Amino acid sequence: MNSFQQAGSALLAILLSAVSAHAKILAGPYLQNPTPTAITIRWISDDGGASMVDYGADLKLKATGANGSFYKKLGSYLHEVTINGLQPNTRYAYRIKSNGALSAPYSCKTMPVAGSPISFLAISDAQMKPDLPMTVAAIGKLVQPDLIIFSGDLIDEPDRVADWYGGERSFFDVFTGRQPGAPLLQNIPLFPSLGNHEYGEAPRSASSLDETASLETYTALFNLPNNERYYSHDYGNVHFIHLNIARQWTSDAATKPQWILGDPITPGSAQYQWLVKDLTPKRQPWTVVSFHQPMLGQGHNTSPYFCNPVKKSDGTYEYPRDVLYDDLRLLFEKHGVNLVIWGHSHVYEHYHVNGIHYLEASGIGNTYGLPTKEPHGLTPVYQNSADRSFAFIQTDNAKMTVTSYHAPEGKILESFEIHKVMPKNK
Ligand SMILES: [Fe+2]
Ligand SMILES: [Fe+2]
Repeated sequence: MNSFQQAGSALLAILLSAVSAHAKILAGPYLQNPTPTAITIRWISDDGGASMVDYGADLKLKATGANGSFYKKLGSYLHEVTINGLQPNTRYAYRIKSNGALSAPYSCKTMPVAGSPISFLAISDAQMKPDLPMTVAAIGKLVQPDLIIFSGDLIDEPDRVADWYGGERSFFDVFTGRQPGAPLLQNIPLFPSLGNHEYGEAPRSASSLDETASLETYTALFNLPNNERYYSHDYGNVHFIHLNIARQWTSDAATKPQWILGDPITPGSAQYQWLVKDLTPKRQPWTVVSFHQPMLGQGHNTSPYFCNPVKKSDGTYEYPRDVLYDDLRLLFEKHGVNLVIWGHSHVYEHYHVNGIHYLEASGIGNTYGLPTKEPHGLTPVYQNSADRSFAFIQTDNAKMTVTSYHAPEGKILESFEIHKVMPKNK
């Protein structure tokens, strides 16, 4: 080999090593914060190169974000690009790039103008459960929602990489179709509410909430309005409100408190005051509220009442007030909320109380059954814990239509319409 050949071989080796050092896309892309003229695209890679998106007809338009930022707890780089200057209610082809890694083409849709009919998916409690891939595959086959309302418990452990990607039934892998599931999150924006599992589990021996994991990973991965823990947004003719209502599960509610995680929702609390302010003007024809902890139901998570437990002299705790049923429900009735969605019990239940529909569509990956009596003596309109299912909601300005599908067959478990109820204060 002469010196030119040697130099050529060395150059080839450098080029090959550069090729093999190309970034690998580990998770995503996933969509956040659509508006009529913009949308944010996020993904996770193993490299901190510049975050770029090709989009539009023939993928000729370019948008660039900052370099991927290293997130220590997951040991990977988080990327974000916002595309601006788009047309309302329009689907755009796009693909993501970072340091040589190039995704397949996907498509994202901008939000329609205010007041337009829309459709959305209501699910929760994925947590890598065994039937999750089957249910997500059924979602991909049966419905095409404009957005996904996810009422908490995306994963089991927020700081464990495999819960998000690269493990068995990881959240992003199943919901982007990288593992058995469906390509949803790269095409449909996700709006999550906080569940107890986004905080992580405190040890059962824990004596205070300080031993509970933080929300650092959740807030690093998602880009959400307001303080990201509770927020609201409009989409078409619906005003969506996401509350932070979750508590730390403990082994024995009679002798150990079930602490309210994060933001209190008791009257007078900052979150409650924010909610009153957010509900006061009627922003769109429909108002939908999502949070994690059930207010009603026969699932095992509805008792004891959701409130700050009070320690008694014998060391046990009492739960003096049902904050969700006695306070929050009245607020929803006063302000004409139309649909409230929650999760946490891993069942399907539908209640209709004083004109408001309450829905839990959280049996997407498993169930724990319906072991308790409804604590308020209420009877559900419909319930099912035996089947895996999901709820699909379509709106026009006269009604919302809720259709709940069995997975995997797609037979309809329940379908009902929601019509306007005048708020009590009008
Ligand atoms: Fe859960
Ligand atoms: Fe939960």
